[in-house]
Amino acid sequence: PRKIILDCDPGHDDAIAMLLAHGNPDVELVAVTTVVGNQTLEKVTRNALSVARIANITGVPFAAGCSRPLVRTIETAPEIHGESGIDGPVMPEPTLALDERHAVDLIIDTVMVHEPGEITLVPTAGLTNIAMAARKEPRIVERVREVVLMGGGYHTGNWSPVAEFNIKIDPEAAHIVFNEPWPVTMVGLDLTHQALATPDVLERIAKVGTGPAVFVGELLDFFGAMYLEAQGFAAPPVHDPCAVAYVIDPDVMTVRKAPVDIELTGTLTLGMTVTDLRAPAPDDCHTQVAVDLDHQRFWDLVVDALQRIGDV
Ligand code: BDR
Ligand code: CA
Repeated sequence: PRKIILDCDPGHDDAIAMLLAHGNPDVELVAVTTVVGNQTLEKVTRNALSVARIANITGVPFAAGCSRPLVRTIETAPEIHGESGIDGPVMPEPTLALDERHAVDLIIDTVMVHEPGEITLVPTAGLTNIAMAARKEPRIVERVREVVLMGGGYHTGNWSPVAEFNIKIDPEAAHIVFNEPWPVTMVGLDLTHQALATPDVLERIAKVGTGPAVFVGELLDFFGAMYLEAQGFAAPPVHDPCAVAYVIDPDVMTVRKAPVDIELTGTLTLGMTVTDLRAPAPDDCHTQVAVDLDHQRFWDLVVDALQRIGDV
């Protein structure tokens, strides 16, 4: 299995990303790290540990990372994820203890003790931890196999007309991550707005009938109500597990090589993932963007992971 570090801010869809990574046999979660984003670091870290309890994730180190973006002030997303970061389901008291290291050090240590090309980074939140890790230990950049991140969008935004939340909340960090020479796959809104939890999907998840599947149903009910109210979606886009799904099965989506850079100075476009789609991409292009999702194949992966997790 492909070894991944999930760097997240749970977050309804981050929780589902955790479950997909845990339940699927083709990826192995080697660490879970948290970063300020959907809510404060304290809240998202607690949520991550509660999800670990719900799915019985053991033997995987969890570490808390940066509590503030590199330059900007903190922006959270209670209008999508509620005051707790995962409003809706009742979240159990965590049983797992946090790793004592800072997430940035856990990321560095994990990458450095593995062989070059072994670890894939899967950030599903602001890129503060990843940027800090690349700056603190630059050798991780050539050791990491690839970075597959949820964030950005080449034609659309959700936190401004042209910027997506994970990029917009720490654009300087995103700038660092996109400009390091490692391979980066941007699984952005163009793709994740196709990962809708439609009624048939909710029904399939309900049919699994286990505790973790009921939990996912509750997550999606709350997420759906918030997305309807805040952004007019009839069914909610379930962003973060799309990045995990790409690592599991690259055929779940089509991708296109294209240079991507992050706008840091625009008055209207701060945090825009400026993507050069003028074909062809240069030979040394190290970034690609996700384009089209195979909806059926994606949800099959999520349902399959829940079935494998079973009742815990
Ligand atoms: C991203 O923002 C967060 O609110 C979600 O968890 C996801 O990672 C979508 O823009
Ligand atoms: Ca997230």
